[in-house]
Amino acid sequence: MPVQPKLLSLFLAALLAPSSSLTSAQQTASSLVIDTSTPAPIAADPIWGCEAPALPPGAVHVVVSSYNAEPEQLLPWLWHLGLTNAIVYVYYRTNDTSIPAMYGSGDVSGTATALQLPCNMTLRVLPLLPNKGREAAVFLHHLVTHYQALPAALMLAHDHGPASRHSLCGPFYRRARGYYRGLWEREQVEAGAEGGRRKEHEPSVFERFASMMVTLSSGCSESWARGCCATFVCSSSPQICPFAPEDCTASQRDPRVTEGPTPGVRQTYMHVDGFYDVRHENKVVVAGEASYPVALLRYTGAAHRSAGMWNISTEYPPGEQRASREETAQLLQSLISRYRRSGKAGGGSGSLSRRRASPRRLHHAFKSCCGSFLMRREQVLRWPVEMYGEMLAYSMDPKLDYEATKAVSGPGWYLWTDRDYDRRDVMTYMQVDVRLKSIQGCPSQRQPHLQRIIADMRGRAAG
Ligand SMILES: *[C@@H]1O[C@H](CO)[C@@H](O)[C@H](O)[C@H]1NC(C)=O
Ligand SMILES: *[C@@H]1O[C@H](CO)[C@@H](O)[C@H](O)[C@H]1NC(C)=O
Ligand SMILES: *[C@@H]1O[C@H](CO)[C@@H](O)[C@H](O)[C@H]1NC(C)=O
Repeated sequence: MPVQPKLLSLFLAALLAPSSSLTSAQQTASSLVIDTSTPAPIAADPIWGCEAPALPPGAVHVVVSSYNAEPEQLLPWLWHLGLTNAIVYVYYRTNDTSIPAMYGSGDVSGTATALQLPCNMTLRVLPLLPNKGREAAVFLHHLVTHYQALPAALMLAHDHGPASRHSLCGPFYRRARGYYRGLWEREQVEAGAEGGRRKEHEPSVFERFASMMVTLSSGCSESWARGCCATFVCSSSPQICPFAPEDCTASQRDPRVTEGPTPGVRQTYMHVDGFYDVRHENKVVVAGEASYPVALLRYTGAAHRSAGMWNISTEYPPGEQRASREETAQLLQSLISRYRRSGKAGGGSGSLSRRRASPRRLHHAFKSCCGSFLMRREQVLRWPVEMYGEMLAYSMDPKLDYEATKAVSGPGWYLWTDRDYDRRDVMTYMQVDVRLKSIQGCPSQRQPHLQRIIADMRGRAAG
């Protein structure tokens, strides 16, 4: 059924405008449009299905840093993650008791919510107070709490999920799923090695991907992030960037290429199939085949603070005596140097720490604007739990500057990657993209089944 132009334009307005700026009349109008323009099945299934074969329950933790666990913002993207059997931990930073009521978590001790996510993913919604340190505090708290029984891998994410000024939906979902597949394949190889089978083994693309620390950032709008690779992994370092800046192509020697204009050389064009183009990567997709020719900017609801996100005065009230920005940054540097010098890095995997490149060099080659990563247990174990404990206390210290919120986004890459990226590592991202190219776009925020679930949740929270 064709969508009427007037209704369509209201619908576009609803998707593009921050919801807080919509009048209630517009909001009513936009939900009406959804009801008439999508008579399609009310699909509660994730758009790209669930990952199968599956990792065991709890093998992956998805750790989400949020302010108020707003379901309008979280559920539209979490619903479609597809990471079968993962546990999703959402941390929120207020003492508002309507939040556990809304999710049906019963209490605040971390029991699973009444709300069940698809793909047998478990949801836990937990407070973390006081509200200091933003995502650094959340991620460090999680590592400290789970250090003795870490999952095989962790995904560290912000509440806005895939759509933000530093990430695109397509790459976010493809990387998460590619990593998951790689973890599964690695498990098979390890099980085979224990059974004495399989010695020589050329890792698959997914296995290689899951051996790396992976950034979920792409499409950065940071002023320092310009050029092909900046769009791709938010690093503009020519050392690791395989793409020619003038046309975003990469060439690699490959004897298997025997035809075409460049025999022996494989050409990869970064933007083929709309990769890393916001019009494709962030196009709004709904159940089934349909998609809307608009790009999602961000998932938000009316109660989200996104407009005031840069207003730090709730967490760091002006007029209070605090350490300066420089002093705060210096404290973190000394903290990490102390552990590096004491040789405690590596937590039982000495070969990893020996191979570790110097911090300066890593920092130079790769810069991640915001802490959102995929990483494995072994990478966390490179450092002792005491260090994470100290970093956590640092990030939540009320006497320190806002700079302390960068305790993960600053040194995280250096702490956890076991090697500096080279061009092949960066090309591995592209190979994952190609293999999972059917995964593209942002799941629509206004899905009827989610609207109903969220209305019920809001009802529970209200009493
Ligand atoms: C689903 O998850 C639960 C709890 O995490 C687990 O006990 C159960 O075995 C899982 N089901 C399947 C089919 O893996
Ligand atoms: C909880 O919130 C109230 C305001 O809503 C505040 O007065 C109180 O100090 C908070 N308590 C904690 C432990 O943060
Ligand atoms: C920032 O937040 C504080 C406290 O929440 C509020 O009083 C103030 O008006 C906000 N400032 C701006 C510019 O929004």
